[in-house]
Amino acid sequence: MSVPEHIAIIMDGNGRWAKKRGLPRNAGHTAGAKNVENICVAAKKLGVKYLTLYALSTENWSRPEAEVRALMRLLSGYLDKAIKTAHENQMHIRVIGDISRLDQKFQRQISEAERVSSVYSDLNLTIAINYGSRDEIVRAMRHVAEDIKAGTLLPEAITEELFDSYLDTKELPAPDLLVRTSGEQRLSNYLLWQVAYSEFYFTPVPWPDFDEKELAKAVDAYENRDRRYGGIREE
Ligand code: FPP
Repeated sequence: MSVPEHIAIIMDGNGRWAKKRGLPRNAGHTAGAKNVENICVAAKKLGVKYLTLYALSTENWSRPEAEVRALMRLLSGYLDKAIKTAHENQMHIRVIGDISRLDQKFQRQISEAERVSSVYSDLNLTIAINYGSRDEIVRAMRHVAEDIKAGTLLPEAITEELFDSYLDTKELPAPDLLVRTSGEQRLSNYLLWQVAYSEFYFTPVPWPDFDEKELAKAVDAYENRDRRYGGIREE
């Protein structure tokens, strides 16, 4: 198989990475945020067109307030820098998730990064913030119901493709490869609809240590998979 066009990543293990070094959890998140930049550049070099990263889930709000605040600060700091990376790497930045719960300044910053980078298409970086797949599906359902109520959509017009167009990921192809770092083998409410046919790759390496070489290994594993759709073997 060829290089995956779209890789989705669950960036797990920041906390354990920090603990192993006797550092506070937030130091792990800082190292993790730094790694995002490296992986964007590495993905582009490999020929990957879409990279979708799980930065903050709807469930992450239950973490200690100080940790959530630190994560928000990191994300906001990252977005500032990402605009420069976008220009250098012709990278289109998008954010998925329910951003209405984020503070106004952060929401404006997201819109600005999306707007400025929308002219690029070499690499498409999507960051999931306050994202949960079930929440995304429920929001899409509500939107479908509103359109039916308004008379602009007929129930018989609902197909998989149409439903896709109501999801946050409407501008993205489905992921070819889903990677989760740090040993856990769960989806944790990430892109449940979108990964229906994706290959999964789990690695014990924690996110801050998941470098260019580790990404190449994941791509290699993908390329060596025997991909089957509904039992029909691809030649
Ligand atoms: C999981 O580690 C990671 C997160 C909850 C957040 C991911 C965020 C970043 C990598 C930083 C910011 C992101 C961007 C896009 C700049 P964990 O805390 O659950 O680790 P643990 O399971 O070892 O405790």
